[in-house]
Amino acid sequence: MNQRLPTFSVRDVTVYGDTILSPMAAYSDVPFRAICRQFGAAMNYTEFVPTEALLHDPNPLWRRLDIHPEGEYLMVFQIFGNDAHQILQAAQRIEAWGPTIIDINLGCSVPKISEKGAGVGMMRQPKLVAETFRLLSRHLNVPVTGKLRLGWDQSSQNYLEIAKIMVDNGAALVALHGRTRSQKYHGQADWDAIAQLKQNVSVPVIGNGDVQTAADIDRLKAHTGCDGVMIGRAALGNPWLLARQDREAVTFSEITAVLRQHLQESLAYYGQPDGLHNFGRHLKKYLAGLALKPFLHALLATEDVVEFEDLLSAMETEVPPHLPVAELRKIPHFPLPAALNSV
Ligand SMILES: Cc1cc2nc3c(=O)[nH]c(=O)nc-3n(C[C@H](O)[C@H](O)[C@H](O)COP(=O)(O)O)c2cc1C
Repeated sequence: MNQRLPTFSVRDVTVYGDTILSPMAAYSDVPFRAICRQFGAAMNYTEFVPTEALLHDPNPLWRRLDIHPEGEYLMVFQIFGNDAHQILQAAQRIEAWGPTIIDINLGCSVPKISEKGAGVGMMRQPKLVAETFRLLSRHLNVPVTGKLRLGWDQSSQNYLEIAKIMVDNGAALVALHGRTRSQKYHGQADWDAIAQLKQNVSVPVIGNGDVQTAADIDRLKAHTGCDGVMIGRAALGNPWLLARQDREAVTFSEITAVLRQHLQESLAYYGQPDGLHNFGRHLKKYLAGLALKPFLHALLATEDVVEFEDLLSAMETEVPPHLPVAELRKIPHFPLPAALNSV
């Protein structure tokens, strides 16, 4: 587990630890964040929420800003929009819901968001960025931060200009995903850009993109001097990475122990049937790369928690518990026991 030592501050907020789970729509919800926190995740970002959804009556997107009933430190609410006054209005409303920090998304590349001038689309509107951060930092009590990309495309990489505007207007931290909008999630993340950003702003910088192993965490820090390392896809089904433990070294019994705990968090938070249903996408990640397809299919097919638990137990009797993923990968096939074929 990560040691919870103070590492850097976001204005007056102390951050403990240097590994951070990325905000990830459909994944970084209350149950998964609870698991990641246990492995030392230093900041808990919510999934992003559109400001329009926050200005009117309660709706299901509000749930994305729930905080674990036992509390969460350090809690970052992430929102996106394309109108500074609306963003402020939404931020003022949600400030009362208990975030430690409010973060603006300047990185989402999805066309229906970016082409409307929100997400990474904000990076093409320096005045909007300035006005948004000026308003928020003046009118909110909590620190305001932003997460951005390199820019719109290869030929318009304006992350330095935008980050400086953010900081000049009160941003207390900048997180940079080292890709452009046109790269989406392809190509290699540019860590040199993260290093350049770190040298050019006075606030803490979080580096993000392509961290897949424990060694990558320290490589990114050494390469860029960044204060924190944000991990997205590689942390899915793999919260151990937040504690600098590689999935290849994790044993099957460790996987099933965490998986069961995550399931309990999901059932407690969502109830049934959503608890089991929403857990399915995480289950796929926990079992990824292992020859457990027949079990996975059966587990995903059931809507019954007791049957799910029975299948998990059957899986545990088939797979050597002490073997790490690196060894389990070499086993070509774990058959579903005949008795369970009918499930
Ligand atoms: C499924 C998925 C959902 C995402 N949702 C968000 C989001 O809500 N807000 C955000 O700022 N970034 C979001 N991202 C981007 C990640 O936070 C991160 O910047 C990106 O995945 C690069 O990091 P990685 O290479 O470690 O995955 C999402 C990424 C994925 C894969």
